[in-house]
Amino acid sequence: PTITFIRPDGARRDLAVAEGTSLMQGATSQGLDGIVAECGGNAMCATCHVYVDEAWAGRLPPLSEDEDALLEGAAAERLPTSRLSCQIVATADLDGLVVRLPDRQV
Ligand code: FES
Repeated sequence: PTITFIRPDGARRDLAVAEGTSLMQGATSQGLDGIVAECGGNAMCATCHVYVDEAWAGRLPPLSEDEDALLEGAAAERLPTSRLSCQIVATADLDGLVVRLPDRQV
């Protein structure tokens, strides 16, 4: 699937993320700035925070308790659409998903 990442300055990047791969892995492996992923995708750092586009927010699997707790400690403001990009796994039905990057991760 193709996932669109929008930076705080409005710049958009469409990245092909392999099915079964997290959005975090897909983004960092293709050199996208704005996702730090200090813990390497283990749901321990909250430096892979993204805001899911509102049109998509309800189409993702619900967040786990761990993800919910970590988002409370995210560096940037938490919004109702906040998620950890390491916990969103790319699937064919997420083709076209749009996420926004927060202004900071640490
Ligand atoms: Fe650390 Fe996602 S990479 S919580």
